[in-house]
Amino acid sequence: MNGIVECKGLEKFEHRGFKVLYKGSIENKQELRDWLLEEGYTLNGEKDIELVAYIIDYLYNGNLTEATRKAQRKIKGSYGFAITNASKAEVVATSNNHPLVIGLGDKQNFIAFDLSSLLSYTKKCCLINNGEICILTPENIVIVSPTGEVINKEEFQVSWDGTMDKGKFEHFMLKEIYEQPDGFKTNLSGRIKNNKVKIEGLELTLEIVKSWKKIAIVACGTSYHAGLIGKGVFENLLHIPVEVEIASEFSYRAPLVDEETLVIVISQSGETADTLVALREAKKKGASVLAITNTLNSTINREADYGVYIWSGPEIAIASTKAFTMMLLAEYLLGIYLGQIKGSISEEKANMLLENIYKLPETASKILAEATQYQKIAEKYYQKENAFFIGRGFDWPISLEGALKLKETSYIHAEGYAAGEFKHGSLALVTEETLMVALCVQQSTYEKTLANVKECKARGAQILALALEGDKEVAKIADDVIYIPRINNFVAPILTVIPLQLLAYYISKARGCSIDQPRNLVKSIVIE
Ligand code: M6R
Repeated sequence: MNGIVECKGLEKFEHRGFKVLYKGSIENKQELRDWLLEEGYTLNGEKDIELVAYIIDYLYNGNLTEATRKAQRKIKGSYGFAITNASKAEVVATSNNHPLVIGLGDKQNFIAFDLSSLLSYTKKCCLINNGEICILTPENIVIVSPTGEVINKEEFQVSWDGTMDKGKFEHFMLKEIYEQPDGFKTNLSGRIKNNKVKIEGLELTLEIVKSWKKIAIVACGTSYHAGLIGKGVFENLLHIPVEVEIASEFSYRAPLVDEETLVIVISQSGETADTLVALREAKKKGASVLAITNTLNSTINREADYGVYIWSGPEIAIASTKAFTMMLLAEYLLGIYLGQIKGSISEEKANMLLENIYKLPETASKILAEATQYQKIAEKYYQKENAFFIGRGFDWPISLEGALKLKETSYIHAEGYAAGEFKHGSLALVTEETLMVALCVQQSTYEKTLANVKECKARGAQILALALEGDKEVAKIADDVIYIPRINNFVAPILTVIPLQLLAYYISKARGCSIDQPRNLVKSIVIE
Protein backbone atom coordinates (compact mmCIF):
# COMPACT_ATOMS: atom_id res chain seq x y z
CA MET A 1 0.00 0.00 0.00
CA ASN A 2 1.87 3.08 -1.20
CA GLY A 3 2.53 5.89 1.16
CA ILE A 4 1.73 4.14 4.43
CA VAL A 5 4.41 3.91 7.06
CA GLU A 6 4.13 0.52 8.65
CA CYS A 7 4.58 0.69 12.40
CA LYS A 8 6.35 -2.12 14.17
CA GLY A 9 3.86 -4.79 15.14
CA LEU A 10 1.27 -3.55 12.66
CA GLU A 11 -1.27 -6.00 11.35
CA LYS A 12 -2.31 -6.23 7.69
CA PHE A 13 -5.27 -7.97 6.11
CA GLU A 14 -6.69 -8.21 2.58
CA HIS A 15 -10.23 -9.01 1.55
CA ARG A 16 -11.91 -8.64 -1.86
CA GLY A 17 -9.80 -5.67 -3.06
CA PHE A 18 -9.62 -4.01 0.38
CA LYS A 19 -6.30 -3.77 2.15
CA VAL A 20 -6.40 -2.91 5.84
CA LEU A 21 -3.68 -1.83 8.26
CA TYR A 22 -4.77 -1.85 11.86
CA LYS A 23 -3.60 -1.32 15.43
CA GLY A 24 -5.56 -1.40 18.64
CA SER A 25 -8.22 -3.29 20.50
CA ILE A 26 -11.95 -3.60 19.76
CA GLU A 27 -14.23 -3.78 22.80
CA ASN A 28 -17.51 -4.93 21.22
CA LYS A 29 -15.89 -7.78 19.32
CA GLN A 30 -18.50 -10.41 20.13
CA GLU A 31 -21.37 -8.19 19.07
CA LEU A 32 -19.63 -7.44 15.76
CA ARG A 33 -18.76 -11.11 15.18
CA ASP A 34 -22.37 -12.18 15.72
CA TRP A 35 -23.60 -9.51 13.35
CA LEU A 36 -21.10 -10.43 10.62
CA LEU A 37 -21.91 -14.12 10.96
CA GLU A 38 -25.58 -13.29 10.56
CA GLU A 39 -24.72 -11.30 7.43
CA GLY A 40 -23.07 -14.41 5.98
CA TYR A 41 -19.37 -13.71 6.57
CA THR A 42 -17.11 -16.60 7.49
CA LEU A 43 -14.75 -15.60 10.28
CA ASN A 44 -11.45 -17.39 10.01
CA GLY A 45 -9.74 -16.20 13.15
CA GLU A 46 -10.06 -14.13 16.27
CA LYS A 47 -8.31 -11.06 14.97
CA ASP A 48 -9.84 -7.57 15.15
CA ILE A 49 -8.42 -6.65 11.77
CA GLU A 50 -10.51 -9.27 10.02
CA LEU A 51 -13.64 -7.74 11.52
CA VAL A 52 -12.63 -4.28 10.28
CA ALA A 53 -12.13 -5.58 6.73
CA TYR A 54 -15.53 -7.33 6.65
CA ILE A 55 -17.35 -4.38 8.21
CA ILE A 56 -15.95 -2.05 5.55
CA ASP A 57 -16.74 -4.58 2.87
CA TYR A 58 -20.35 -4.76 4.09
CA LEU A 59 -20.79 -0.97 4.37
CA TYR A 60 -19.03 -0.08 1.11
CA ASN A 61 -21.19 1.23 -1.69
CA GLY A 62 -18.50 2.85 -3.83
CA ASN A 63 -17.46 5.50 -1.27
CA LEU A 64 -14.67 4.41 1.06
CA THR A 65 -14.86 7.53 3.24
CA GLU A 66 -18.55 6.96 3.87
CA ALA A 67 -17.98 3.29 4.66
CA THR A 68 -15.20 4.27 7.09
CA ARG A 69 -17.46 6.81 8.83
CA LYS A 70 -20.20 4.22 9.30
CA ALA A 71 -17.66 1.63 10.48
CA GLN A 72 -16.34 4.12 13.03
CA ARG A 73 -19.79 4.37 14.57
CA LYS A 74 -20.10 0.60 14.85
CA ILE A 75 -16.68 -0.25 16.26
CA LYS A 76 -16.05 0.52 19.96
CA GLY A 77 -12.61 0.50 21.56
CA SER A 78 -9.21 2.06 21.03
CA TYR A 79 -7.96 1.52 17.54
CA GLY A 80 -6.72 3.08 14.35
CA PHE A 81 -7.02 1.72 10.86
CA ALA A 82 -6.11 2.69 7.32
CA ILE A 83 -7.77 1.15 4.30
CA THR A 84 -7.56 1.19 0.50
CA ASN A 85 -9.75 -0.20 -2.19
CA ALA A 86 -8.25 -1.52 -5.41
CA SER A 87 -10.62 0.68 -7.44
CA LYS A 88 -9.15 4.02 -6.29
CA ALA A 89 -5.65 5.33 -5.49
CA GLU A 90 -6.42 6.71 -2.05
CA VAL A 91 -5.97 5.69 1.54
CA VAL A 92 -8.66 6.39 4.10
CA ALA A 93 -7.75 6.31 7.79
CA THR A 94 -9.41 6.95 11.11
CA SER A 95 -8.91 6.29 14.79
CA ASN A 96 -10.68 6.22 18.11
CA ASN A 97 -8.81 6.78 21.39
CA HIS A 98 -5.68 5.92 19.51
CA PRO A 99 -2.92 8.06 18.00
CA LEU A 100 -3.04 8.68 14.28
CA VAL A 101 -0.50 10.96 12.66
CA ILE A 102 -0.21 12.29 9.13
CA GLY A 103 3.22 12.96 7.67
CA LEU A 104 3.52 15.44 4.83
CA GLY A 105 6.18 14.68 2.27
CA ASP A 106 7.17 15.85 -1.18
CA LYS A 107 4.62 14.32 -3.55
CA GLN A 108 4.04 11.62 -0.98
CA ASN A 109 2.13 11.54 2.27
CA PHE A 110 2.22 9.18 5.19
CA ILE A 111 0.04 7.80 7.94
CA ALA A 112 1.36 6.27 11.12
CA PHE A 113 0.00 5.11 14.43
CA ASP A 114 2.80 6.83 16.32
CA LEU A 115 4.87 9.89 15.61
CA SER A 116 8.33 8.34 15.85
CA SER A 117 7.57 5.88 13.02
CA LEU A 118 7.23 8.83 10.65
CA LEU A 119 10.43 10.62 11.40
CA SER A 120 12.71 8.84 8.97
CA TYR A 121 10.28 9.87 6.17
CA THR A 122 9.26 13.39 7.12
CA LYS A 123 9.26 15.74 10.09
CA LYS A 124 6.25 17.76 8.94
CA CYS A 125 3.22 16.29 10.63
CA CYS A 126 -0.34 16.85 11.76
CA LEU A 127 -2.37 14.96 14.32
CA ILE A 128 -5.75 13.38 13.74
CA ASN A 129 -8.27 13.47 16.58
CA ASN A 130 -10.85 10.89 17.62
CA GLY A 131 -13.34 10.08 14.89
CA GLU A 132 -11.78 12.33 12.24
CA ILE A 133 -11.22 10.74 8.88
CA CYS A 134 -8.33 11.49 6.56
CA ILE A 135 -8.23 10.77 2.89
CA LEU A 136 -4.74 10.59 1.45
CA THR A 137 -3.33 10.55 -2.03
CA PRO A 138 0.35 11.14 -2.83
CA GLU A 139 -0.43 14.81 -3.68
CA ASN A 140 -3.27 15.66 -1.36
CA ILE A 141 -4.66 15.25 2.14
CA VAL A 142 -8.25 15.93 3.15
CA ILE A 143 -9.32 15.64 6.77
CA VAL A 144 -12.98 15.59 7.69
CA SER A 145 -14.78 15.71 11.02
CA PRO A 146 -16.97 12.80 12.17
CA THR A 147 -19.94 14.71 10.74
CA GLY A 148 -18.28 15.31 7.38
CA GLU A 149 -17.02 18.95 7.53
CA VAL A 150 -13.60 19.54 6.05
CA ILE A 151 -11.08 20.52 8.75
CA ASN A 152 -7.98 22.67 8.32
CA LYS A 153 -5.29 21.10 10.42
CA GLU A 154 -2.32 22.87 11.89
CA GLU A 155 0.93 21.34 10.68
CA PHE A 156 3.95 21.21 12.92
CA GLN A 157 7.59 20.45 12.40
CA VAL A 158 9.14 17.84 14.68
CA SER A 159 12.40 19.24 15.96
CA TRP A 160 14.11 16.06 17.11
CA ASP A 161 17.64 15.88 15.88
CA GLY A 162 18.01 12.18 16.54
CA THR A 163 18.77 10.28 13.40
CA MET A 164 17.12 6.97 12.83
CA ASP A 165 20.29 5.12 11.93
CA LYS A 166 22.55 3.22 14.28
CA GLY A 167 25.70 5.11 13.37
CA LYS A 168 28.78 3.22 14.53
CA PHE A 169 26.74 1.02 16.85
CA GLU A 170 25.55 -2.50 16.12
CA HIS A 171 22.20 -1.96 17.79
CA PHE A 172 19.96 0.98 18.68
CA MET A 173 19.98 -0.17 22.29
CA LEU A 174 23.73 0.29 22.56
CA LYS A 175 23.59 3.60 20.69
CA GLU A 176 20.90 4.83 23.05
CA ILE A 177 22.86 3.73 26.13
CA TYR A 178 25.81 5.75 24.84
CA GLU A 179 23.65 8.80 24.17
CA GLN A 180 23.04 9.28 27.89
CA PRO A 181 25.86 11.72 28.72
CA ASP A 182 24.68 14.02 25.92
CA GLY A 183 21.09 13.54 27.03
CA PHE A 184 22.01 14.77 30.51
CA LYS A 185 23.70 17.81 29.02
CA THR A 186 20.65 18.63 26.86
CA ASN A 187 18.37 18.34 29.87
CA LEU A 188 20.54 20.53 32.02
CA SER A 189 21.18 23.26 29.51
CA GLY A 190 18.99 26.26 30.12
CA ARG A 191 17.23 24.67 33.07
CA ILE A 192 19.47 25.98 35.84
CA LYS A 193 20.26 29.63 36.39
CA ASN A 194 21.99 30.95 39.52
CA ASN A 195 21.32 27.58 41.15
CA LYS A 196 17.58 27.94 40.56
CA VAL A 197 15.79 25.34 38.46
CA LYS A 198 13.51 26.55 35.71
CA ILE A 199 11.55 24.15 33.53
CA GLU A 200 10.40 25.43 30.16
CA GLY A 201 6.64 25.79 29.92
CA LEU A 202 6.14 25.26 33.64
CA GLU A 203 5.07 28.41 35.46
CA LEU A 204 3.84 27.33 38.87
CA THR A 205 3.01 29.63 41.76
CA LEU A 206 3.42 29.03 45.47
CA GLU A 207 -0.37 28.90 45.76
CA ILE A 208 -0.65 26.08 43.24
CA VAL A 209 2.25 24.06 44.64
CA LYS A 210 0.95 24.44 48.20
CA SER A 211 -2.50 23.27 47.15
CA TRP A 212 -1.07 19.81 46.38
CA LYS A 213 -1.22 17.83 49.58
CA LYS A 214 -0.15 14.59 47.97
CA ILE A 215 1.41 13.23 44.79
CA ALA A 216 0.36 10.07 42.97
CA ILE A 217 2.73 8.79 40.30
CA VAL A 218 1.25 6.52 37.66
CA ALA A 219 3.14 4.71 34.88
CA CYS A 220 3.98 1.33 33.33
CA GLY A 221 7.11 -0.80 32.97
CA THR A 222 10.34 1.14 32.98
CA SER A 223 8.47 4.39 33.50
CA TYR A 224 6.89 2.88 36.63
CA HIS A 225 10.37 2.12 37.92
CA ALA A 226 11.27 5.75 37.30
CA GLY A 227 8.18 6.59 39.37
CA LEU A 228 9.46 4.50 42.29
CA ILE A 229 12.62 6.59 42.34
CA GLY A 230 10.43 9.69 42.01
CA LYS A 231 8.64 8.74 45.24
CA GLY A 232 11.90 8.99 47.19
CA VAL A 233 12.87 12.20 45.42
CA PHE A 234 9.58 14.06 45.91
CA GLU A 235 9.03 12.89 49.49
CA ASN A 236 12.50 14.05 50.39
CA LEU A 237 12.34 17.40 48.61
CA LEU A 238 8.67 18.33 49.08
CA HIS A 239 7.78 16.65 52.37
CA ILE A 240 4.42 15.39 51.18
CA PRO A 241 3.22 11.79 50.78
CA VAL A 242 3.83 10.20 47.38
CA GLU A 243 2.15 7.05 46.09
CA VAL A 244 3.31 5.17 43.03
CA GLU A 245 1.01 2.91 41.11
CA ILE A 246 1.09 0.75 38.01
CA ALA A 247 -1.20 2.51 35.54
CA SER A 248 -3.14 -0.63 34.60
CA GLU A 249 -4.23 -0.99 38.26
CA PHE A 250 -4.86 2.67 39.03
CA SER A 251 -8.19 3.20 37.34
CA TYR A 252 -9.83 0.04 38.61
CA ARG A 253 -9.72 0.60 42.35
CA ALA A 254 -11.39 4.00 42.79
CA PRO A 255 -8.09 5.79 43.52
CA LEU A 256 -8.14 8.37 46.29
CA VAL A 257 -7.10 11.40 44.28
CA ASP A 258 -8.85 14.76 44.30
CA GLU A 259 -8.33 18.50 43.72
CA GLU A 260 -5.55 18.46 46.28
CA THR A 261 -3.55 15.80 44.46
CA LEU A 262 -0.89 16.20 41.82
CA VAL A 263 -0.93 13.12 39.62
CA ILE A 264 2.35 12.67 37.74
CA VAL A 265 2.06 10.39 34.73
CA ILE A 266 5.31 9.18 33.22
CA SER A 267 5.51 7.80 29.69
CA GLN A 268 8.29 7.77 27.13
CA SER A 269 5.90 7.39 24.22
CA GLY A 270 3.13 9.52 25.67
CA GLU A 271 0.70 7.06 24.10
CA THR A 272 0.57 4.11 26.51
CA ALA A 273 -3.11 3.25 26.82
CA ASP A 274 -3.01 2.21 30.49
CA THR A 275 -1.33 5.48 31.46
CA LEU A 276 -3.71 7.51 29.33
CA VAL A 277 -6.75 5.88 30.93
CA ALA A 278 -5.28 6.62 34.38
CA LEU A 279 -4.67 10.24 33.38
CA ARG A 280 -8.29 10.63 32.30
CA GLU A 281 -9.50 9.01 35.52
CA ALA A 282 -7.36 11.38 37.59
CA LYS A 283 -8.67 14.41 35.72
CA LYS A 284 -12.24 13.22 36.18
CA LYS A 285 -11.59 13.24 39.92
CA GLY A 286 -10.33 16.82 39.81
CA ALA A 287 -6.62 16.15 40.25
CA SER A 288 -3.98 18.25 38.47
CA VAL A 289 -2.02 16.10 36.03
CA LEU A 290 1.61 16.64 35.13
CA ALA A 291 3.07 14.49 32.35
CA ILE A 292 6.72 13.55 32.11
CA THR A 293 7.14 12.37 28.52
CA ASN A 294 9.56 12.17 25.65
CA THR A 295 7.15 12.66 22.80
CA LEU A 296 6.11 16.11 21.74
CA ASN A 297 2.43 16.41 20.97
CA SER A 298 1.70 12.92 22.24
CA THR A 299 -1.82 12.28 23.50
CA ILE A 300 -0.69 12.17 27.13
CA ASN A 301 1.06 15.49 26.68
CA ARG A 302 -1.90 17.11 25.08
CA GLU A 303 -4.32 15.94 27.76
CA ALA A 304 -2.18 16.72 30.83
CA ASP A 305 -2.39 20.08 32.59
CA TYR A 306 1.38 20.45 32.83
CA GLY A 307 4.25 18.87 30.96
CA VAL A 308 7.93 18.19 31.47
CA TYR A 309 9.84 16.88 28.47
CA ILE A 310 12.74 14.55 28.98
CA TRP A 311 14.47 15.48 25.70
CA SER A 312 15.86 12.02 25.00
CA GLY A 313 15.28 12.22 21.29
CA PRO A 314 13.66 9.21 19.62
CA GLU A 315 14.16 5.94 21.41
CA ILE A 316 14.02 3.14 18.87
CA ALA A 317 15.07 0.03 20.80
CA ILE A 318 12.11 -1.52 22.54
CA ALA A 319 14.12 -1.78 25.75
CA SER A 320 14.03 1.68 27.21
CA THR A 321 17.41 2.97 28.39
CA LYS A 322 18.12 6.66 27.83
CA ALA A 323 14.48 7.57 28.39
CA PHE A 324 14.68 6.01 31.87
CA THR A 325 17.69 8.01 33.01
CA MET A 326 16.27 11.20 31.49
CA MET A 327 12.99 10.56 33.36
CA LEU A 328 14.95 10.29 36.58
CA LEU A 329 16.79 13.51 35.87
CA ALA A 330 13.49 15.22 35.06
CA GLU A 331 12.12 14.06 38.42
CA TYR A 332 15.12 15.44 40.32
CA LEU A 333 14.90 18.77 38.52
CA LEU A 334 11.16 18.92 39.02
CA GLY A 335 11.57 18.09 42.71
CA ILE A 336 14.13 20.86 43.16
CA TYR A 337 11.99 23.30 41.13
CA LEU A 338 8.86 22.61 43.23
CA GLY A 339 10.91 22.54 46.45
CA GLN A 340 12.40 25.94 45.63
CA ILE A 341 8.94 27.40 45.05
CA LYS A 342 7.56 25.82 48.18
CA GLY A 343 10.58 26.57 50.34
CA SER A 344 10.81 22.92 51.41
CA ILE A 345 14.41 22.63 50.27
CA SER A 346 17.21 24.74 51.68
CA GLU A 347 19.50 26.73 49.45
CA GLU A 348 22.42 24.69 50.69
CA LYS A 349 20.76 21.40 49.82
CA ALA A 350 19.70 22.61 46.38
CA ASN A 351 23.27 23.73 45.68
CA MET A 352 24.70 20.41 46.80
CA LEU A 353 22.24 18.45 44.65
CA LEU A 354 22.80 20.59 41.58
CA GLU A 355 26.54 20.28 42.00
CA ASN A 356 26.17 16.49 41.87
CA ILE A 357 23.67 16.64 39.05
CA TYR A 358 26.18 18.65 37.01
CA LYS A 359 28.63 15.74 37.37
CA LEU A 360 26.26 13.30 35.67
CA PRO A 361 27.47 13.65 32.05
CA GLU A 362 31.10 13.16 33.00
CA THR A 363 30.47 10.31 35.43
CA ALA A 364 28.20 8.52 32.94
CA SER A 365 30.95 8.80 30.33
CA LYS A 366 33.40 7.19 32.75
CA ILE A 367 31.02 4.26 33.27
CA LEU A 368 30.54 3.86 29.53
CA ALA A 369 34.30 3.87 28.95
CA GLU A 370 34.51 0.57 30.84
CA ALA A 371 32.36 -1.39 28.38
CA THR A 372 34.90 -4.19 27.90
CA GLN A 373 34.37 -5.43 31.45
CA TYR A 374 30.68 -5.99 30.67
CA GLN A 375 31.57 -8.12 27.68
CA LYS A 376 33.77 -10.30 29.87
CA ILE A 377 31.12 -10.61 32.55
CA ALA A 378 28.50 -11.40 29.91
CA GLU A 379 30.67 -14.20 28.52
CA LYS A 380 30.81 -15.71 32.00
CA TYR A 381 27.09 -15.51 32.80
CA TYR A 382 25.20 -15.52 29.52
CA GLN A 383 24.06 -19.14 29.82
CA LYS A 384 22.26 -18.60 33.10
CA GLU A 385 18.52 -19.17 33.01
CA ASN A 386 17.62 -17.47 36.29
CA ALA A 387 18.79 -14.22 37.81
CA PHE A 388 17.72 -12.13 40.78
CA PHE A 389 18.56 -8.47 41.22
CA ILE A 390 18.48 -7.24 44.80
CA GLY A 391 18.97 -3.88 46.46
CA ARG A 392 17.63 -1.65 49.21
CA GLY A 393 16.44 1.96 49.21
CA PHE A 394 17.09 3.60 45.85
CA ASP A 395 18.94 0.42 44.80
CA TRP A 396 15.63 -1.46 44.87
CA PRO A 397 13.82 0.24 41.94
CA ILE A 398 17.09 0.05 40.02
CA SER A 399 17.14 -3.70 40.72
CA LEU A 400 13.63 -3.95 39.25
CA GLU A 401 14.75 -2.02 36.20
CA GLY A 402 17.95 -4.08 35.80
CA ALA A 403 15.91 -7.28 35.91
CA LEU A 404 13.38 -5.95 33.41
CA LYS A 405 16.17 -4.96 31.01
CA LEU A 406 17.75 -8.40 31.26
CA LYS A 407 14.54 -10.40 30.86
CA GLU A 408 13.11 -8.43 27.95
CA THR A 409 16.30 -8.46 25.88
CA SER A 410 17.90 -11.84 26.77
CA TYR A 411 14.80 -13.90 27.74
CA ILE A 412 16.62 -14.98 30.91
CA HIS A 413 14.13 -15.26 33.74
CA ALA A 414 15.08 -12.29 35.91
CA GLU A 415 13.36 -10.72 38.91
CA GLY A 416 14.13 -7.66 40.96
CA TYR A 417 13.61 -7.72 44.72
CA ALA A 418 13.95 -5.49 47.70
CA ALA A 419 16.97 -7.23 49.26
CA GLY A 420 15.36 -7.48 52.69
CA GLU A 421 12.21 -9.06 51.24
CA PHE A 422 14.09 -11.72 49.33
CA LYS A 423 14.52 -13.98 52.34
CA HIS A 424 10.75 -14.07 52.88
CA GLY A 425 10.24 -16.86 50.38
CA SER A 426 12.23 -16.29 47.22
CA LEU A 427 15.46 -17.40 48.84
CA ALA A 428 14.10 -20.93 48.38
CA LEU A 429 14.77 -20.60 44.65
CA VAL A 430 18.49 -19.98 45.04
CA THR A 431 20.79 -22.79 43.88
CA GLU A 432 24.31 -23.05 42.44
CA GLU A 433 22.78 -22.16 39.09
CA THR A 434 21.40 -18.82 40.24
CA LEU A 435 22.93 -15.50 39.32
CA MET A 436 22.42 -12.84 42.00
CA VAL A 437 23.05 -9.28 40.89
CA ALA A 438 23.52 -7.40 44.16
CA LEU A 439 23.27 -3.62 44.18
CA CYS A 440 25.45 -2.37 47.01
CA VAL A 441 25.55 1.31 46.08
CA GLN A 442 23.28 2.89 48.70
CA GLN A 443 25.43 3.37 51.78
CA SER A 444 22.76 3.80 54.45
CA THR A 445 21.63 0.22 53.91
CA TYR A 446 24.97 -1.19 52.81
CA GLU A 447 25.64 -3.54 55.76
CA LYS A 448 22.14 -4.98 55.65
CA THR A 449 22.33 -5.61 51.90
CA LEU A 450 25.69 -7.30 52.35
CA ALA A 451 24.12 -9.61 54.92
CA ASN A 452 21.46 -10.56 52.35
CA VAL A 453 24.16 -11.20 49.76
CA LYS A 454 25.96 -13.50 52.18
CA GLU A 455 22.75 -15.50 52.69
CA CYS A 456 22.54 -16.09 48.94
CA LYS A 457 26.22 -16.90 48.66
CA ALA A 458 25.84 -19.50 51.38
CA ARG A 459 23.16 -21.18 49.21
CA GLY A 460 25.62 -21.46 46.32
CA ALA A 461 24.52 -18.51 44.16
CA GLN A 462 27.03 -16.74 42.00
CA ILE A 463 27.22 -13.10 43.02
CA LEU A 464 27.75 -10.20 40.67
CA ALA A 465 27.89 -7.05 42.76
CA LEU A 466 27.57 -3.42 41.81
CA ALA A 467 29.43 -1.18 44.21
CA LEU A 468 31.13 2.16 44.61
CA GLU A 469 34.77 2.50 43.68
CA GLY A 470 37.07 1.63 46.57
CA ASP A 471 34.64 -0.79 48.24
CA LYS A 472 36.84 -3.62 49.49
CA GLU A 473 34.24 -5.46 51.59
CA VAL A 474 32.01 -6.57 48.78
CA ALA A 475 34.89 -8.08 46.80
CA LYS A 476 35.39 -10.57 49.63
CA ILE A 477 31.95 -12.08 49.01
CA ALA A 478 31.15 -11.48 45.35
CA ASP A 479 32.40 -13.52 42.40
CA ASP A 480 32.62 -10.35 40.31
CA VAL A 481 32.26 -6.69 41.15
CA ILE A 482 31.36 -3.84 38.82
CA TYR A 483 32.58 -0.58 40.31
CA ILE A 484 31.03 2.76 39.56
CA PRO A 485 32.56 6.15 40.41
CA ARG A 486 31.67 7.58 43.81
CA ILE A 487 28.78 9.98 43.58
CA ASN A 488 26.31 11.41 46.06
CA ASN A 489 23.91 8.64 47.13
CA PHE A 490 20.77 10.66 46.52
CA VAL A 491 21.45 11.17 42.80
CA ALA A 492 23.23 7.82 42.35
CA PRO A 493 20.22 5.94 40.85
CA ILE A 494 20.56 7.99 37.67
CA LEU A 495 23.92 6.32 37.12
CA THR A 496 23.54 2.98 38.89
CA VAL A 497 21.26 1.72 36.16
CA ILE A 498 23.75 2.27 33.34
CA PRO A 499 25.94 -0.77 34.15
CA LEU A 500 22.78 -2.89 34.30
CA GLN A 501 21.73 -1.66 30.86
CA LEU A 502 25.16 -2.64 29.52
CA LEU A 503 24.98 -5.99 31.26
CA ALA A 504 21.61 -6.76 29.68
CA TYR A 505 22.87 -5.64 26.30
CA TYR A 506 26.04 -7.77 26.29
CA ILE A 507 24.35 -10.85 27.76
CA SER A 508 21.62 -10.63 25.09
CA LYS A 509 24.28 -10.21 22.43
CA ALA A 510 26.15 -13.28 23.67
CA ARG A 511 22.87 -15.22 23.49
CA GLY A 512 22.24 -14.05 19.93
CA CYS A 513 18.94 -12.36 20.78
CA SER A 514 17.01 -9.88 18.70
CA ILE A 515 18.15 -7.04 20.92
CA ASP A 516 16.30 -4.06 19.46
CA GLN A 517 13.07 -5.90 18.85
CA PRO A 518 12.58 -8.67 21.39
CA ARG A 519 9.93 -11.24 20.63
CA ASN A 520 6.32 -10.45 21.57
CA LEU A 521 7.02 -6.79 22.42
CA VAL A 522 6.25 -3.46 20.76
CA LYS A 523 7.57 -0.02 21.58
CA SER A 524 4.36 1.63 22.61
CA ILE A 525 1.47 -0.34 23.99
CA VAL A 526 -1.70 1.39 22.94
CA ILE A 527 -4.16 -1.22 24.16
CA GLU A 528 -5.30 -1.72 27.73
O1 M6R B 1 6.04 4.66 26.59
P1 M6R B 1 5.90 4.29 28.03
O2 M6R B 1 7.01 4.86 28.85
O3 M6R B 1 4.56 4.63 28.60
O4 M6R B 1 6.02 2.72 28.05
C1 M6R B 1 5.84 2.00 29.23
C2 M6R B 1 6.37 0.60 29.09
O5 M6R B 1 5.66 -0.09 28.11
C3 M6R B 1 7.86 0.59 28.75
O6 M6R B 1 8.60 1.33 29.67
C4 M6R B 1 8.40 -0.85 28.70
O7 M6R B 1 8.35 -1.41 29.97
C5 M6R B 1 9.83 -0.84 28.15
N1 M6R B 1 9.88 -1.51 26.90
C6 M6R B 1 10.81 -1.49 29.01
O8 M6R B 1 12.09 -1.39 28.49
